[in-house]
Amino acid sequence: MNSAPDTQLAATPQPASENAIQRVLVLEMVRVTEQAAIAAAQLVGRGDEKAADAAAVAAMRKAFDNLYMDGTVVIGEGERDEAPMLFIGEKVGMGKGPKIDIALDPLEGTTITAKAGHNALAVLAAAEEGCLLNAPDVYMDKLAVGPGYPEGIIDLAKSATDNVCAVANAKGVKPADINVCVLDRPRHAEMIAELRALGCGVVLIGDGDVAGVIAVTNPDTTIDMYMGQGGAPEGVLAAAALRCVGGQFNGRLVFRNDDERARARKWGIEDLNRIYKLEDLAKGDCIFAATGVTDGSLLAGVKRRRKVTGETILTTESVVMRASSGTVRWIKGEHRIG
Ligand code: FBP
Repeated sequence: MNSAPDTQLAATPQPASENAIQRVLVLEMVRVTEQAAIAAAQLVGRGDEKAADAAAVAAMRKAFDNLYMDGTVVIGEGERDEAPMLFIGEKVGMGKGPKIDIALDPLEGTTITAKAGHNALAVLAAAEEGCLLNAPDVYMDKLAVGPGYPEGIIDLAKSATDNVCAVANAKGVKPADINVCVLDRPRHAEMIAELRALGCGVVLIGDGDVAGVIAVTNPDTTIDMYMGQGGAPEGVLAAAALRCVGGQFNGRLVFRNDDERARARKWGIEDLNRIYKLEDLAKGDCIFAATGVTDGSLLAGVKRRRKVTGETILTTESVVMRASSGTVRWIKGEHRIG
């Protein structure tokens, strides 16, 4: 991994302050996502989603141990009784230093990994205590657009057609010129038909809506908007990334039964129909870090290479961003093995 001076600072205990997130944690977070990605990558294409996820979880859990922070998992692998590691409420880090809340997904795209598809990531977001929405593990309606548009251009309360027309109008193009990324699910059939009736390009993805949402911020993807229902935890992670690089996001929790509604209330969510914007999901300063497990629109996946010297190395590609500075660091790592 590139070792910038910040890495040295990261090893030095710092007093909790507004700078704590930057000085202690930014590059350290990449070490954590790298370890999870490397572990999951051993199982790419092996057809075993659970094993890939378990490997990523165990590696991420271990990597947290070295971080100088008093961390708490607020979005994780599930509740204490259903997840052996990285459960909601679990303390991570050295237990000293700044109080940091962590949202994580050690393997975003378990099916992608099992099938050696595109866009599997190891991902996390970190913020000062109380700054990330403690989203229950339910679905979320999501709507996102990249940076540069007037504030409020998208509105989840409006139809897909209204949103596409507003974005097309602001961009100075026809609705038919707008590309929308959508998870390929039967529940989206009506919305996809509506978008196709407008002539939009609908980019269907099989899984991995964290990368799908972030794609709206990268003009190279040609994706203008993200629409549709995916996991709420993934919504918070994607929102943290958009807080850092710009763009707009609307999210609304979707409850399929009373049990899900009760779970939301347990985490302090009163208004079950609320439309959350970026700052409601990830406020204050926050960090987003991700490492590619498989190749994707955001990052290249882990690769095993044999050097002429006979050494075997694993290469990783990661990104780490910080909201308050807007700094985005792309980090290529070389990890010697065995
Ligand atoms: P996993 O890594 O947990 O399998 O999640 C992949 C994913 O595609 C997410 O990116 C997305 O938010 C969610 O699943 C969608 O859920 P579903 O597969 O139930 O439609």
